[in-house]
Order: sequence, then C-alpha cells, then structure tokens
Amino acid sequence: MKKMLNIALPKGRLGEKVYAMFEQAGFECPSIKENSRKLIFENEEKGVRYFWVKPSDVAIYVERGAADIGVAGKDILLEYEPDVYELLDLGVGVCRMAVAAKKDFRDDTRKTLKVATKFTNIARNYYSSLGRDIDIIHLNGSIEIAPILGLSDVIVDIVETGTTLKENDLCVVETVVPISARLIANKASFKFASYEIENLKNNIAEIIRAKG
Ligand code: PRP
Repeated sequence: MKKMLNIALPKGRLGEKVYAMFEQAGFECPSIKENSRKLIFENEEKGVRYFWVKPSDVAIYVERGAADIGVAGKDILLEYEPDVYELLDLGVGVCRMAVAAKKDFRDDTRKTLKVATKFTNIARNYYSSLGRDIDIIHLNGSIEIAPILGLSDVIVDIVETGTTLKENDLCVVETVVPISARLIANKASFKFASYEIENLKNNIAEIIRAKG
C-alpha cells in the first residue's frame, strides 16, 4: 500500500495560499475546498492527508510525528527551535521580525532595555548577540500598545505591511530577521518516506521556480 503523507497546514489565509501550491504541484485534495468545519481531508489516490492546525502548532505536530510534513513560519521555527528538518523556503507569508519603538525613542545603553514581545527566544538571542542587557516582558498580543503606555521601551514583533505600526505611531528601529513560510519535515518520516517527501518537495520547488 502506498504511504500516505500526513501534512499539517496552517489554518487561515496563508494556509490557503500554501494549499494552492500543493495542489498545483499535483497533490490536490478536492474535498478540502468544501465549505465545512472538518479539519482533516484525504486523497488516497494521491497519497496525501491534509489537516488544518493553528499556525503556531504546525511544528509541534511535525516534531512529534503526528504530521510527516508541514508548513510553518520561520518566526515559529526560530522561537521554538523544534527538532525538524527545514526543507524549503516557500516564498509566501513574507514579512520580517523587527524592533519597533515610538518615534522619539533614543536608546540609552547605560540602562537595561525593556522589550515587550511574543517572541521571547528570538528577542533574547538577538540582544545577546549585540551584548545588550534587556528585561523581557512576555505578552500574548496587541504588543504595539506596550511602548505607548510605557510598559516597554521597544517591541520585537512581526511587521508585514507596516500598517499596524503606523497606525499606532511606532516605527521600525531595526530588522532582526526576514521571515517566510517554510516546508518542514519530521526527521524519522524523512528517513522512512524520503522518496515521497523529496518528490513533493521537488514538485513544489518547481512551482516556485516557474512563478519566478
Ligand atoms: C502581526 C503582528 C502585527 C501585525 C503586523 O499580528 O503582531 O500586529 O501582524 O502586520 P502589518 O505590518 O501588516 O500591520 P497577526 O496579524 O499575525 O496577529 P497576532 O496579533 O495574533 O500576532
């Protein structure tokens, strides 16, 4: 029997874009387009089973082998450092991780910098590479409010169009790292289903090349 590849996709707009790439690459699963609340879809003939999961959970499914492959943002991979293979940059979900602050912010290096973020690991690694002392304030959302209310000096957050910063009178101080969606694989799956995974990866890489 053909090996079914379990594929974890990030639920939402990015996931739909990514599914379209899988579809173009020849791994379609028409039932996924039916409007329903179902989360798992399979196409036995093509040997694929897709499931929608919360974007930040994709790497957990893949790391633990509940999914053979998946698509996760580089932000999640850098933040949680899951033990998975990163196979391909899909060139979608492009944004950047940046430090932002109020327009009049001037860094006083004699003081510990107060940094509000959802991405504490990324922020810690970044400032430690600069040798800068920081005080991390972990928040779960609406990070942009922190410098406005004086909770922090700066934020480390995702910037895509820059609209959220602009509308809150903040600006980018520096870019930490560029971000995009990555195809990832479970390490054991990559060993035991290497043909299927390589084949899928190569077909998707071809789609990306063709798009230029
Ligand atoms: C991210 C980020 C910013 C926003 C930036 O939030 O935290 O708030 O996107 O995008 P922009 O530069 O295009 O305005 P996201 O929408 O991912 O939701 P979250 O608040 O749950 O992180």
